[in-house]
This record gives sequence, C-alpha cells and structure tokens, in this order.
Amino acid sequence: MIPHRIRAFAPGRVNLIGEHTDYNDGLCLPFAIELGVTVTAQLHEGGGVSAPDLGDGDRFLEGTVAELRRSGRELPGVRLGIDGDLPQGVGLSSSAALCIALALALYAAAGEEPPRPVRLARLCSRVESEWAGQETGLLDQLASLLGEQGRALRLDMRTLEARPVELDLDGHLLATLNSGASRSLAASGYNERREECRRALELLGLESLRDADDASGLPAPLDARLRHVISENERVDAAVAALERGELSELGALLNASHASLRDDYDVSIPEVETAVAACMDGGALGARIMGGGFGGSVLALFPPGAALPDGAISVRPGAGARLL
Ligand code: GLA
Repeated sequence: MIPHRIRAFAPGRVNLIGEHTDYNDGLCLPFAIELGVTVTAQLHEGGGVSAPDLGDGDRFLEGTVAELRRSGRELPGVRLGIDGDLPQGVGLSSSAALCIALALALYAAAGEEPPRPVRLARLCSRVESEWAGQETGLLDQLASLLGEQGRALRLDMRTLEARPVELDLDGHLLATLNSGASRSLAASGYNERREECRRALELLGLESLRDADDASGLPAPLDARLRHVISENERVDAAVAALERGELSELGALLNASHASLRDDYDVSIPEVETAVAACMDGGALGARIMGGGFGGSVLALFPPGAALPDGAISVRPGAGARLL
C-alpha cells in the first residue's frame, strides 16, 4: 500500500579529508551533516510529475524521473514540494542531496524499495553529469546516503567499502565558512582536473591512479596532480589514525597539509578561498582547508574547545543519512 503523502530527507555532506581522490579509486573521509533537503510527494489521480518549487524544465527533476523510467519504474501522478535548511551553491552538496531526496520520494511514490546505496549513488551521479552537466565522483552521494550520527565514513572508492569512524572531537568544533566566490569556474575547473588525471593514466599505462606510487616520470603539471592524489590518500589514513588516538592537533595539521597540496599541487584554490582559510586560521583554527571540488565553495576548519567561530562560519556535526521520514 503506497502512503498518500511521502516525505524523503537527504543531508548535505562535509568531507573531512580526501579530496579529488574519489574519481581516482582513492580514499575519502566524509560525513553527512544535519542540514538537508526534504522532498514531499503528494500523489494524485492522473499522470505527470510536477515540482512547482523547482520550476519547469529543472534538470535534476527531469533527470531523476528519466533515470527511474529508464530502469522500468512506472510513476504515478505526483506533485513534489521541496524544502530544507541546506544552503545551496556553497559546496555542501545541495545538488546531490536534492537528487537523492527526489529519488527516494519517487521510488516510494512508485511503491518500490530504492536500490542499494551504491546503485542509487550512481544513478544520482548520472543525473548530475548527464543532465546537469557537472561530472562528479560518488563522494557526495555516498556520504549523504550512508551517513551515521556521530561518525564519519572512511570510503575506499576502489572496493566501495564504507567503514564508520567515530568522530569523537573532545569538545573541538568543525565548521564551514563560505568563501563567497561564485562557483561559475567550478565545473570547468573540476572537469579539467579529471581530464588531467585521465591523461596521467594514459602516460603511465595504468588503470587507476590508486596504483601509482611515483609521480616523477610525468610532465608538469600532471606530476603535481598525481603527487596530490598519492599524498592525499595517505593523509586520509593518517587522519583516521589521529582520530582513533584522539590526537586532534594532528588532525588539524593534516587539514593544513591537505590544503597546501590542493592549492600548490592540484591548483584548485582561488583568492577568496585563501581569504576564508586565513580567516579561520586567524580565528584560532588548528587547521583549515579547501573542501569539495575547489574554485570557490566553503572551506572546512577545526577549532579548539571554546573558540569563537569567525563571522559567517557554521558548525557542522555528523548526522544520519538519507531516509524516508
Ligand atoms: C566534488 C565532487 C566529488 C569530489 C569532490 C572533490 O564535490 O562532486 O565527487 O570529486 O568534488 O573531492
């Protein structure tokens, strides 16, 4: 029996460390945050899926509906409402959250169980790349789907194994600060980095950059890109170990090292992002870094107990993953 009214929630995400590694079969350490997108579905007689809050021709809605139909789902007449407290366009994965909440609501409207998380993550990633023109790895979607209260997830993007890691911060705070930069450059810059990784693979004759351990044979700037990927994977496991030992100043140092690598080797920083990182460090952060694809968006910082957050920073905590409410 299909409930008459359906509500689906999907959270945004923060990535503690492990950036630009997901599409290189590498390691990441994201968590779902408590802020998210809620989609309400009201079934009605007659056909058609509409979402007045998104407007006609919204690519995420069109793509999600098309992907469901492509996999053989019959959709009833349904009117969708979109709500939530996740800021859009600031690098907290609002598009992945929207797409997942839409998909969960539509599967429920069709009277079906959603696919398992990895398949659903792939479906939503296809919507973003094929319908909305933005390539993504699976980091954002898996974090939103698999999030757990109080825990981060060590994701191995090669095996797709997700291991929960207790995020016991001993009074420290994690916070994001919006750089305020328009994200117009983000899509082209991101796609260019992915293309550079593909070129590096060809030159190395490898299937995956996870298998590379030495960047010295590559021409610039591909050598620097690979240096970032290799060192960032190492930092993810170092961060997991630091958390397990409760060494939060070590975690801060790893955030700073990740930032330097993203800025200098992966070349995805811009002046507004540097200003936001500097504001966090000046405000007493133990570490701060570019988060997500770069070229704008929000930065992530770790503050010691009792620190006053810089103006505009929002404190983020690990919350539960996407679900029907
Ligand atoms: C964006 C993408 C993710 C990931 C990050 C960089 O957020 O959507 O898949 O590649 O950039 O780590």
